[in-house]
Amino acid sequence: MCAPTYFGVEYVINPWMEGKLGGVSTGTAGAQWHDLHALLTETLGATVTQVPPQPGLPDIVFTANAASVWGGKAVPARFKHPERQGEEPFYRAALENAGYEIHDLPEGIAFEGAGDALFWEGDTEAPLLFAAHGWRTDDAAHGFLSTTFGVEVVSLALTDPRFYHLDTCFCPLPGGFLLWYPPAFDAASQEIIAARVPSAKRLAVSDTDAATFACNAVGVGNHVVMNAATNALRESLASWGFSAHATPLDEFMKAGGSAKCLTLRLL
Ligand code: ARG
Repeated sequence: MCAPTYFGVEYVINPWMEGKLGGVSTGTAGAQWHDLHALLTETLGATVTQVPPQPGLPDIVFTANAASVWGGKAVPARFKHPERQGEEPFYRAALENAGYEIHDLPEGIAFEGAGDALFWEGDTEAPLLFAAHGWRTDDAAHGFLSTTFGVEVVSLALTDPRFYHLDTCFCPLPGGFLLWYPPAFDAASQEIIAARVPSAKRLAVSDTDAATFACNAVGVGNHVVMNAATNALRESLASWGFSAHATPLDEFMKAGGSAKCLTLRLL
């Protein structure tokens, strides 16, 4: 994670940021971030390491975008928008410090890390890597991820500008479960997901839950941490054996991110 010392909405690169320039309360954002951190560490027992925040890089708090990491290897992000490209060296240094072997994408291919590439545990020995293209990541990145990590990559096309990263509309949970929002994907991708993930382990969230970023959730064991959850979603998660923990992150939603975006799972 990365503390929100310099977080704010200083440019517009997704629809959530429109009309929000300068509209973040730094104090509230700091309190919400600390509550998320405390929930993950003190309540749920996760170990969290931190990347130092950087002035002039307000979105560096969204560490999900730093890289895709697996088995000691990291493929660092290559941000689509110049506004975020300055984050790249800081994330790279943090990954190197953490001992990851760095594998750089060929020049000119955009890729936004675990924002657009999520591992899902099916019944095969190696996990599947679901990877998106359409807004921030080029599909040319997908083959590189497959070769580098030695896993099958399932490519998905995102179509709704509000759900511009895969982790805003698709959330693999431990045990092969999945929360997702079908309208964020094209028809072919919806069919691919339905064919890969058994229906008993797949839950399409409502428009209401999608709009409060329920799919932007962090699974820790049988706990799921998210900005907000309707009772219907809590009950569905409970039927799978998960407890939902809501922790308000609306200051970060002004930039188009919430719980999952604020974390990178180190695998
Ligand atoms: N303002 C950031 C952007 O548009 C938000 C990133 C959210 N991160 C995520 N993994 N969805 O890039």
